[in-house]
Amino acid sequence: MQEKISQIRQKALEEIQGASDLAKLNDVRIKYLGKKGELTVILRGMGSLSPEERPVVGSLVNKVRDELENKIQEAEKAFEAKAIEEKLLNENIDVTMPSKKISLGSNHPITQIINNVKDIFIGMGYEIADGPEVELATYNFDKLNTPPDHPARDVQDTFYVTDDIILRSQTSSVQARVMEMQKPPIKIICPGAVYRSDSVDATHSPVFHQIEGLVIDKNISMADLKGTLDMFAKKCLGEKTQIRFRPHHFPFTEPSAEADVSCFVCGGKGCRVCKGEGWIELLGCGMVHPNVLKNCGIDPEEYSGFAFGFGVERIAMAKFGIDDMRLLYENDVRFLKQF
Ligand code: DAH
Repeated sequence: MQEKISQIRQKALEEIQGASDLAKLNDVRIKYLGKKGELTVILRGMGSLSPEERPVVGSLVNKVRDELENKIQEAEKAFEAKAIEEKLLNENIDVTMPSKKISLGSNHPITQIINNVKDIFIGMGYEIADGPEVELATYNFDKLNTPPDHPARDVQDTFYVTDDIILRSQTSSVQARVMEMQKPPIKIICPGAVYRSDSVDATHSPVFHQIEGLVIDKNISMADLKGTLDMFAKKCLGEKTQIRFRPHHFPFTEPSAEADVSCFVCGGKGCRVCKGEGWIELLGCGMVHPNVLKNCGIDPEEYSGFAFGFGVERIAMAKFGIDDMRLLYENDVRFLKQF
């Protein structure tokens, strides 16, 4: 019996050494150590041995089994290490290969104008305010002294979510929100998207952007408004830019005005950009109406203020020489790359 075990051991060791891969090694394991393996069969048949032989044979089989198991494991590890080594050799990275170019974009012209305007007003001590685009009609209209029968409130002009919830038609709604939340002095600008029920063409879009400005303090006058806008126009459109006021009407300001800037392309002589006028319409503005101050909890006897609001697209188009507003929304990289 001992002889037989020793032969099995010898054969198994040779086969382990001769195994060419992991699968073959596993075959060897099954052949000798598996449930019906040659060594296992001997252990199972121990009942037929004499009581003296049993412990000797038992311990020999166990020793051989452990030895074979160790050898198989060693061989497995060697195969695994070899596999990893081969993989590393085949998968080496050539760090000198030229990389794929990542093309970096740039800010959209609308964003560029907004950032530029923000910088200018932050430089004058303003804070940036924010408000919801889905807005209560009361902030967009009522508190801003715009009565229910005002034409701007027509369903033809404004997007209604319900009777009293709308998509804001102007960033002026943020004026009312800020005045309700903050005590004067107030000095804010608010850039953001606004919505109007307009069809798309070269100068109209149902979504566009405005920047609102509001200053409330003691003794604020129209001169402060004019000085501020003059400074803004010079910083935004060039040091030579002039500003002029024309009388106008807005429900939330009294007096109200529209402000034009001298054409920053021709300097006022008349050209294609200003359509021969020498002036470009820039924004609406005025002194905050006492009713608006009252509606927002500010005493008009103690405080006064000015406000202004303008379209960002209009400035972007004039400044960058863009003649069709739709180009700003098409996201054509060939167009956007130019700015
Ligand atoms: N909200 C006005 C519009 O959309 C623009 C405007 C005019 C804003 C006068 C103002 C203002 O703050 O005082 O046409």
